[in-house]
This record gives sequence, structure tokens and C-alpha cells, in this order.
Amino acid sequence: MAKRLSLVNGPNLNLLGTRETEVYGSLTLDKIVADTSAEAKSHGFDLDAFQSNIEGELVEAIHRASASDGLIVNPAAYTHTSIAIRDAIAAIDTPTVEVHLSNIYKRESFRHQSYVSQVCLGVIGGFGPQGYMLAVQALARHLKPAK
Ligand code: DQA
Repeated sequence: MAKRLSLVNGPNLNLLGTRETEVYGSLTLDKIVADTSAEAKSHGFDLDAFQSNIEGELVEAIHRASASDGLIVNPAAYTHTSIAIRDAIAAIDTPTVEVHLSNIYKRESFRHQSYVSQVCLGVIGGFGPQGYMLAVQALARHLKPAK
């Protein structure tokens, strides 16, 4: 059976392509998901992608990712507020990479705290959509360590 990665994107990321393009770039979420899916395929993984603007739906998507081999999550603004999303990641036994398009540490101070980093394998930020590809590569390496 093919190995599986889950990709979960949080609020306002459905507006990528038109939203604050000077911060987030001009690629749409559909394009980013297609590129991430192709990157995952090249490493032998199927990708399940989910986006929601609703915190509880993100929590449930993270629960479903317990059936996946790895999880890539960009909780967007909930990164800085959501203990529920942090606890959902902690509750599943799936290695998780936190991704941000922007470098949150170069931005407003309220973005400097992430509730989720502590329960993630690692964090990638500041590289735009390429961060999702880097997350796939990191998980592929983590799940299949070089002999
Ligand atoms: C973001 C950074 C968050 O601070 C912000 O609320 C987002 C997107 C990013 O990908 O850079 O919506 O997660």
C-alpha cells in the first residue's frame, strides 16, 4: 500500500493568490497543493489535502491524519492562538512538520509565539510555497532514514 501524507491548511489560506501577495506570494492554494502532491508522489507518497477556516474542522482533520505516515500543517493564525490544535497534534502519533509561508519571526511580535512547534518534528518558514516541498522532503527522509 502506498504511504500517505496529510496536508492541513488553516484559515485564510484559501485566499492565497490574492491575499497580501507581498507577504504570501501569488500562487493559489490549489497550485501549492498540486505541487506538494507531485513532490509527495516523487517520494512514493499519496497526499491528502484539507483546508478549513474553522478551528474544530482543523482539529478533526488532524485526528484523521493519525492514519497517515506524516502530517504537514500550516495552522495559519491558529498557530498563535490554538491550544486545541496543539493538543490534536500531540494526541496523534504521526510525525508532523509545521510550515509557514512567511518568516513569522520577522513579523509582528504576536506571530512570534507558536503553540504547535513544541509538538512538531520541525518547523519550516520564510521560504514561501517551497516550504511545503521542503516539508515533504524532511518527512520522506525522517520516515525512511538513509542506510
Ligand atoms: C502564516 C503566518 C501566520 O502568522 C498567518 O496568520 C497566516 C499564514 C504563514 O504561512 O506565513 O495566516 O501561517
